[in-house]
Amino acid sequence: MLLQVPEVLSAEEAAAWRTKLDAADWVDGRVTAGVQSARVKNNRQLREGSPLARELGDRILEVLQHTPLFLSAALPLRVFPPLFNRYGPGHSFGSHVDNAIRQVPGTPHRVRTDLSATLFFSDPDEYEGGELLVEDTYGVHQVKLPMGHMALYPSTSLHKVLPIRSGARVASFFWIQSMIRDDGQRTLLFDLDSGIQRISQDAPDHPSAVQLTGVYHNLLRRWADV
Ligand code: NI
Repeated sequence: MLLQVPEVLSAEEAAAWRTKLDAADWVDGRVTAGVQSARVKNNRQLREGSPLARELGDRILEVLQHTPLFLSAALPLRVFPPLFNRYGPGHSFGSHVDNAIRQVPGTPHRVRTDLSATLFFSDPDEYEGGELLVEDTYGVHQVKLPMGHMALYPSTSLHKVLPIRSGARVASFFWIQSMIRDDGQRTLLFDLDSGIQRISQDAPDHPSAVQLTGVYHNLLRRWADV
């Protein structure tokens, strides 16, 4: 499932971070690429562990903990510290699948990449090209979101970033290990949770709300790794 999570950061806050990002030092994006993706990756990245990457990464992780749509859709167990990329004219990232396992630098921890996230720090009218294209069994989806919004998609999907023709596309990207490894099971839980939220609002005293909540938790108990 490809999901848009609106306003993870407000437009004002995202724009303030963008000013800092524009003043930062950017290095060749191949520093975090695997062998196959290094051949198709052509962009710039903020150095991993640099003070700005850390400060903004921590802020993103903090807001995600209070973003109900993200929590319901991702059921996160671990989140990789956010990375940042910048595509200028001529930059692109060809078709690839993200590495399945990521070592968190400087720690013994590994993250299995169940979900990939892109949080935008550019508005769509700032650049031409640069669409994120995600392939799934329903076809190819094109993503270009406003500043502060985030795209979330299964890391099992082939995806690419089309060449930039003008302007700059600045974004944060990172991976989530979910308590629910399987995308199909995770999607069922998300749909069930969305239905429960709606019934709880429309008919708060309906006994089905309690019953369905029980079903949700019993499926989670059956399927989750924690
Ligand atoms: Ni990727």
